Amino acid sequence: MYNKKFTRRELLNYIIGVSGAALAGSIIFPTLKYIIPPKGTDVDISKVTAAKVGELPPNSAKVFRFGNKPAILVNTPQGVLKAFTAVCTHLNCTVQYSQEASYILCACHNGHFDLNGKVISGPPPKPLEEYKVNVTGQDIIVSKV
Ligand code: FES
Repeated sequence: MYNKKFTRRELLNYIIGVSGAALAGSIIFPTLKYIIPPKGTDVDISKVTAAKVGELPPNSAKVFRFGNKPAILVNTPQGVLKAFTAVCTHLNCTVQYSQEASYILCACHNGHFDLNGKVISGPPPKPLEEYKVNVTGQDIIVSKV
């Protein structure tokens, strides 16, 4: 039978060693979790029900989830439904609709898009990707073109 007695110094060294390892682990693990990005969680969907008929009056819009990215459904002042990605082509901010000016606005750097998704002004380098809109029964369905 193993019957070694620890000295007080050995016991303290053991406790300090275990505490140090626990402290190092509690610092290293969260740091690595922060630095290493999670595995890709892209949800690739091709269509989604964005709204119900009558939900959007003319000259209004709604941002909705299209997979794991935002998209925007616009009912133009003329009553035409249009949908675009809501991810700005400049630095990926989420765009919104300006009822006063009737255009799509990116507030991050004052980028403006017309209701065809084309850049009117500001730094965005490309137009917004447009999606197809179909009305089926009471559902407004947005799909990739
Ligand atoms: S991110 Fe939209 S204008 Fe810069």
